[in-house]
Amino acid sequence: MSGGLRAGLIGLGAMGRNHARVLNLLDGVELVGVLDPAPGGAVPGGVPVVAELEQFIGLGLDYAVVACPTGLHEEVGLRLAEAGICALIEKPLASTLEASQRLVEAFESRGLVGAVGHIERYNPALQSLRSRLEAGELGDMYQVVTRRQGPFPGRIADVGVVMDLATHDIDLTAWVTGAQYTSVSARTSRQSGREHEDMVVVVGELDNGTVVNHLVNWLSPLKERSTVVTGERGCFVADTLTADLTFYANAAIDNEWEALRAFRGVSSGDMVRYAIPKREPLVVECALGDAGQSACGCSGRVTAASSTRSPNSTTWFVLQASTAGRSKRSRPSPPRRGWNDEVFSDDGDRLRQQPSAPRDCVRKDHG
Ligand SMILES: NC(=O)c1ccc[n+]([C@@H]2O[C@H](COP(=O)([O-])OP(=O)(O)OC[C@H]3O[C@@H](n4cnc5c(N)ncnc54)[C@H](O)[C@@H]3O)[C@@H](O)[C@H]2O)c1
Repeated sequence: MSGGLRAGLIGLGAMGRNHARVLNLLDGVELVGVLDPAPGGAVPGGVPVVAELEQFIGLGLDYAVVACPTGLHEEVGLRLAEAGICALIEKPLASTLEASQRLVEAFESRGLVGAVGHIERYNPALQSLRSRLEAGELGDMYQVVTRRQGPFPGRIADVGVVMDLATHDIDLTAWVTGAQYTSVSARTSRQSGREHEDMVVVVGELDNGTVVNHLVNWLSPLKERSTVVTGERGCFVADTLTADLTFYANAAIDNEWEALRAFRGVSSGDMVRYAIPKREPLVVECALGDAGQSACGCSGRVTAASSTRSPNSTTWFVLQASTAGRSKRSRPSPPRRGWNDEVFSDDGDRLRQQPSAPRDCVRKDHG
């Protein structure tokens, strides 16, 4: 189409090809060019592929989707911000906390939208889970457990499983619960001889008192993407591969089998699998006009970028904790819901006070 927003795509690999397909589907968006020095395939619609960033910027873009290797996100993102181009940058935002902060600063200081592609936030199962938790359907929340296991995708060379996969779990946990991490500890291992870790086990706590566990690896001959939230009234199980959400309720009836009741703490009640509308998460993430949900920022609102800063800090702490083999702790804080923008060092000193969570950003108009 013509006359819409002019979009560009950086990186035409596994994720970039999905973005190219979706950009071609979006109403009000025209994919006008792709940057990739070694594209892995053709772009639908005969869109030109260029090899140089300056050539790409010269295409006159409203926004760009960044899906090149994580190690290049900072360099590419800073240049886009300098050129006044809004961006949706794939997760993880960058390879280090400092690089992520430089990117946030570069986009915010220019009033540009800089968003992070946390696709799990657009998975129907997690969206429904979040609404149900917000509505209090679970009662008090006790525990969040996520498992993200599967085989190694050979193409990822520049980061380990913490940055590449656990970023999903850390972000989605803060997002669905509306709470922030106050402590994390982690253990990693490298079993496959690669430079970076290929397994991680994370234990943490949120500022509402919920305990958290993430089990993430690239060494399983099965594919699992599971989030289980347990609370006062039962537990929700979200499967983000099938986008199914199931609720296992505690029994409302009295269990007369005393020994069983004592052993399990609660007894099993009804199980409900919700019928939820299933739309492709990437399409929802990138769709225009979904007020408050457009990660491309063309609706003028950032949801992913600014609210991602604290989980991004947590990811970095997980890396540090797993390297140092000890936990990163905060001062004890009273249970509460909502965003906690303070980040604490190991000995409890406040490292930095971050600005408050999501706020509106204004899209730059190109004439
Ligand atoms: N949101 C998600 O669920 C999700 C899923 C997969 C990947 N990702 C993220 O997307 C990014 C890319 O991952 P991938 O799996 O597609 O990797 P990939 O290796 O399949 O593709 C990367 C592409 O970038 C290109 N490239 C290399 N250098 C470049 C440069 N200087 N400029 C432009 N392009 C360049 C490569 O030629 C390749 O085509 C990573 O940051 C990854 O974490 C996100």
